[in-house]
This record gives sequence, C-alpha cells and structure tokens, in this order.
Amino acid sequence: MPENFLSFKNVSYVLPNGETLFSNISFDLANGEKAALIGENGIGKTTLFLLAQNILSPSVGKIVCGRPPAFLAQKINRDQTVAEALGVSNILNAIKDVNAGKTDHALFDIIGNQWTIESDIRQALNTFRLDHVDLSASFSKLSGGEQEKLLLLSVFLSQSAILMFDEPTNNLDSSSRDVFYDYVQTTPKTVFIISHDRELLQRMSCIYELSAEGLKKYGGNYAFYLEAKKSEKEKLNAQKNISSKKQDV
Ligand SMILES: Nc1ncnc2c1ncn2[C@@H]1O[C@H](COP(=O)(O)OP(=O)(O)OP(=O)(O)O)[C@@H](O)[C@H]1O
Ligand SMILES: [Mg+2]
Repeated sequence: MPENFLSFKNVSYVLPNGETLFSNISFDLANGEKAALIGENGIGKTTLFLLAQNILSPSVGKIVCGRPPAFLAQKINRDQTVAEALGVSNILNAIKDVNAGKTDHALFDIIGNQWTIESDIRQALNTFRLDHVDLSASFSKLSGGEQEKLLLLSVFLSQSAILMFDEPTNNLDSSSRDVFYDYVQTTPKTVFIISHDRELLQRMSCIYELSAEGLKKYGGNYAFYLEAKKSEKEKLNAQKNISSKKQDV
C-alpha cells in the first residue's frame, strides 16, 4: 500500500449521546492531492479528521491509511525548545554526535537522508520571517503567532506523506498566510485541510463537502465548487418547476 494512501470505507460515527454524526462516508486520498474539507460549523469535520488520525475509532466502517498522517498536536508541551517543538531535535543531536566522531549505526538510522536538515530549517524559518528564532530557545517564550507558525512548519518538516491541518490560517497574518499557501502548493505530499479561507480553498485541487446528506467530492478548486453548486441548484429548481407543473395539470 502506498504510504500516502488514506481511505474511508462506509464510515459512520455515533456521538457519545447516541446521535449519529455522519454515516456511510467513503473516499480515497492519494498521490499529492491537495484536498479541502468544508461544511457548516458542527457538521463533523474535526471529528472526521480525528478518525483519520486514529484518535477516534469509527462506529461502523473501515479506515485504511498507509502511514500515520502528520497533524498539529492539540496538546503542546510548551516547556520544550524550538527544535523539540519542530520535531527535529533527535536528528540535530544525531548529526552533532556524528560530527563529534561517533559512528553508531543507530545515529545514521535517525539521520537518514536528512543531513541538510539544519539549513533546511533555517531556510524554512526565514520564509516565515522567523530568522531571529534560535533552535535551542524556549518555545514558550515566543509570541502566540510565532508559535503557531512553528507548529505549522513542524507538520511540513515531518516524515509523514499525508499532512492534515484543521483551520490552519485563522490566526496567521497575511504574509504568513501567503507562505502557508506556497508550502501547500509546492509540497509533493498529500495535503488535507479543513478551512473556510476562500483564498486557500481556491488553491486546492479538490473539495470535499460534508453536509447532512453525507460527503460529496468536487474535483476542482473553490471556483469550480461554486460553479458546480450553482448548476446543482439550477437543476434542482428546474426539477421542482417540472414537478409543480405536473401537479398543476
Ligand atoms: N466527544 C464529544 N461528545 C459529544 N459531542 C461531541 C463530541 N465531539 C464532537 N461532538 C459534537 O459533534 C458535532 C461535530 O463536531 P466537530 O467538532 O466535528 O464539528 P466541525 O464540523 O469541526 O465544526 P467547526 O466548523 O465548528 O469546527 C458537534 O455538534 C459537537 O458538539
Ligand atoms: Mg472543527
């Protein structure tokens, strides 16, 4: 199975109070798709993400995933360094040890092909205007916005092939939003994002809409989605007209 594969097969989720939140959800995400999940507040988007992340289990149906997706940790340990928050401290330490002359196999396993990780990170920090941030600094001393940007970066820096974000741009300033849009569009990885940000939705390759009727896929960006919704509505109105005329006869 490819590692960037995520599949829901006839998934239903029942809330603790016994109410069915959604049922019969099926979809496949693969191969660098940039997919958005949209829908009204409270419809179940975050819950669907928690199922994909194996934090919740489906009441019915099956979820298959090549490798666990990367997502923003909900409970962040603020007592850590910037490198720890980015999830790269083990690799940086291993490189330091190798540079100091250690030759254990385990160190090389940790490093893999990421020998340039420190300069990659510095470059990533620059793009988010975080060049002043020291990797060994305390994460909790950074501003809220800086912390937010670092956590987004940690997802992009992860080894996972599927990156998931739940409303990532809500607290970003406009230049950071642009940087985030760029990351989403240029990463070869599969990206799955819950968002109401129309500029972001416009840059996605497909849109899934969760509604009371279930999950529906629109195979294009937000403009494509709006057009499709418009013609759906027109078709529905035309059908209504026909059936009301039939009743008149
Ligand atoms: N553990 C839980 N116990 C009871 N109800 C829950 C639980 N988790 C979620 N819900 C309910 O399920 C519904 C869907 O919640 P969810 O957070 O998935 O919606 P959402 O689509 O992400 O909404 P929003 O756009 O506001 O973020 C809500 O009505 C919520 O109150
Ligand atoms: Mg939500």
